[in-house]
Amino acid sequence: MTNPLNLKRIHHVEFFVGNARQASYYYRKAFGYSQVAYSGLETKQRSRTSYVLSQGKANIILTTPMTPSDLAAEHIRKHGDGVYDVAFEVDDADAAFAEAVKRGATPDTEPHDIADANGTIRRASVRTYGDTIHSLISYKDYKGPFLPGYIARPVEETDCGIVRIDHMVGNVELGKMKVWADYYEKVFGFHRYITFDDKDISTEYSALMSVVMSDDKHVVKMPINEPAPGRNKSQIEEYLDWYVGPGVQHIALQCGDIIKTVSQLRANGIEFLTVPDSYYEALPSRVGPIDEAIPELKKLGILVDRDDEGYLLQIFSKPVEDRPTLFYEIIQRKGCRGFGKGNFKALFESIEREQALRGNL
Ligand code: FE2
Repeated sequence: MTNPLNLKRIHHVEFFVGNARQASYYYRKAFGYSQVAYSGLETKQRSRTSYVLSQGKANIILTTPMTPSDLAAEHIRKHGDGVYDVAFEVDDADAAFAEAVKRGATPDTEPHDIADANGTIRRASVRTYGDTIHSLISYKDYKGPFLPGYIARPVEETDCGIVRIDHMVGNVELGKMKVWADYYEKVFGFHRYITFDDKDISTEYSALMSVVMSDDKHVVKMPINEPAPGRNKSQIEEYLDWYVGPGVQHIALQCGDIIKTVSQLRANGIEFLTVPDSYYEALPSRVGPIDEAIPELKKLGILVDRDDEGYLLQIFSKPVEDRPTLFYEIIQRKGCRGFGKGNFKALFESIEREQALRGNL
């Protein structure tokens, strides 16, 4: 077992967005997150405003710049709304940062205290693909609502049954997948969990390659995609064009009852990709017996895949902003630790239908 930085968990994912007040309303009302904490003018934070939302063990921060000189403003100008920081809790931020840099990570911010009346944390960060960073956070004596600098501002919502972040996928440029896989192996001690090549993931038009990097305990799974040459533009290239560089492509949210979760998300207005009816005709022979009724899965557009350990159910949203960049996956695992390889073809054909509508295929 190797965990050189002593990662404990995904602490939170921070997004830079154009309007955090409206984005937090969307994530509360559509995805069922409750609001936990806030930082902004009222807390003497004058360059940014942030809303902290949580559901199950998934914590997100939606941050907007209050001035054109704030780093978030440049991030949004270039990328649109997107993920800035995938933050990890570690045993000791100083030790984790020193070890990461020793192992070849590019430093972003040196370890420092962040404190308020509720106590102190240590925080540092290292860079990853594109303009994305990993914060490393360790607790000293902090007992407040989220992190120092935030005040409690609870808004309860009806949750959608999301229990945790299952994985987060990054898109990188052609030829860079191995570079970043090596980075996660070397710096974080992750191993190559699963690899998909262009034979697994190609359609008539476009292809991609993917490697799933994971810690030994499978607490943090970070697949990395790169485009593969095809007859037409890969969905990864479309992302890279519109995000203007590498970044987080999708976040997979795990739930315990996908039929209930997807029914609620659909009722709340989340739009999902669809597959043809023929997918469900072939399903019984492809995956064998499952607990769920196939007509119900078909009605909701939920996909199923099986490996020798069990099966999984999954569905993918359309992009959640105007640029065709970040989208969500909803996943329920019933023994299967895979990523839905058997669904790639149907799924990517669906993505390409959407790409064609956008004039990007
Ligand atoms: Fe995924």
